[in-house]
Amino acid sequence: MSDAPIGIYDSGFGGLTVWREIRRALPDESLIYLGDGKNCPYGSLPEQRVAELAEAAVRRLMDEGCKLIVVACNTATAAAIEHLREMFPAMPFVGLEPAVKPACLRTRSGVVGVVATERSLSGRKFLATVARYGGGKRIVTAVGRGWVEAVEADAEQAPETERRVREVLEPVIAAGADIIVLGCTHYPFLRPVIERVIGDRDIEVIDSGAAVEKRVESLLDAHGLRASAGHGAVYRFLSMADGDYCERLRRKAFADEVVRQEKNDYI
Ligand code: DGL
Repeated sequence: MSDAPIGIYDSGFGGLTVWREIRRALPDESLIYLGDGKNCPYGSLPEQRVAELAEAAVRRLMDEGCKLIVVACNTATAAAIEHLREMFPAMPFVGLEPAVKPACLRTRSGVVGVVATERSLSGRKFLATVARYGGGKRIVTAVGRGWVEAVEADAEQAPETERRVREVLEPVIAAGADIIVLGCTHYPFLRPVIERVIGDRDIEVIDSGAAVEKRVESLLDAHGLRASAGHGAVYRFLSMADGDYCERLRRKAFADEVVRQEKNDYI
């Protein structure tokens, strides 16, 4: 048993979609979220640079006493997870990967769409997963150009964002995809826009949030690291940028609750 925090790291706001899943399922766990913010977006940086940034972030989370670290970023996972596991063998890590396997098992049309960053789509890990599970299926990939920037600017509802989402998704839909994988942790913030663009077409949209949360639970159990019941979870937000960015992280993390709360107050 350990009441030490779980560390969750991303280039920016994206990993908050994973943070929310973990917090909902594991309310006793304290969480430290590190959103780089200074070097975001990672999506088209060279692999070596992303690996350096990931290592610095992990060191910072380890200095904070984290007992397990979730690399809540597909791009950083693709560039650095093997290196991190070698470098810090005593630390349990959970990485993020586009949910290609479940998508290949579920598609009826045989066409799977995967939207992710350039770096994730060209990573060895992604190519190996496609080779392993994509047999007999057509995998149509697309880079979500401008999507991360829109989320970082809190511009999910802007008309320009909808235009960018449409521009990326229409060719994937036209190729016959009946399931679209969101392979970047920023993208679930765009779900309402993505669903608007899909409209009444019978297309499922999936992300990795719930599967990652399950993996966190199983690693906590395997290492005997669950927090004691009712110890009082604490949520902290760190960044490589400035205090203002940390405050924005906190606001975005709790944003869905503020909306619910406002609705309740209104009713
Ligand atoms: N949220 C990230 C991912 O899952 C990184 C996006 C970026 O910084 O480009 O890939």
